[in-house]
Amino acid sequence: MQTPTIFADTQALADAAAAQAIAVLGEAIAAHSRATWVLAGGSTPMQTYRRIAEAYLDKLDWSRITFIIGDERIAPLDSPDSNWQAVEQTLLRHIPSATFLRPLSDQPAELAAADYTQQLARLPQHAGLPRFDLVWLGVGEDGHTLSLFPDHPSSQPTNQLVIPVHDAPKPPADRISLSLHALSGTQQTTILAAGAGKAAILQAAFAPDSTLPIAEAALRTNAQWLLDTAAAAMLY
Ligand code: 6PG
Repeated sequence: MQTPTIFADTQALADAAAAQAIAVLGEAIAAHSRATWVLAGGSTPMQTYRRIAEAYLDKLDWSRITFIIGDERIAPLDSPDSNWQAVEQTLLRHIPSATFLRPLSDQPAELAAADYTQQLARLPQHAGLPRFDLVWLGVGEDGHTLSLFPDHPSSQPTNQLVIPVHDAPKPPADRISLSLHALSGTQQTTILAAGAGKAAILQAAFAPDSTLPIAEAALRTNAQWLLDTAAAAMLY
């Protein structure tokens, strides 16, 4: 597991994550001419999207970026439950020149997962999988990431890229999610977590034998951890 980078507060974390995202995506565009960024929902990424919208819109050729989302709740497209809607309001509406692959999240989870799998096939591929140049992951207080929940069918190994999720322990119950298998083609994964509510689960995730979804995702992708001091309080 990588040693986490710890910031004094959420604003410092958001500033660093924004700068890092722009740098990683810029390098990917230089290398491949296009880049794919897998977005995360949740309040910590949202603060960073705001920071990018404030300070970095002129730092990248956004027409070369494709945005996808790592997981989505099944809900009407304009619902406050929609992860996409939240990211749209904070970041995506500022960059209409980008390409967006949005899940059919107003449809049943099986249909939305199958459709999103087909949408991902349009992305540049690497070793038979979509090449994700940057993946952002959040951490739930139960150790979930994406919509892969601990001790739940969603965290069983699979060869599918996108899975339907039912009976999620965190509402809403129906969702779709990238699988861990889908992350195997990832170039850079960054985990963002802030606040005292994350301290205990991060301590569990950093235990050597942890099988929490966030721990498995971190190990599989050699992820970089960006934490604030409150979230990191039980690590050392
Ligand atoms: C969801 C949320 C969820 C979130 C984590 C971390 O779909 O229910 O997006 O997975 O990412 O709970 O959220 P915070 O960054 O707000 O702590």
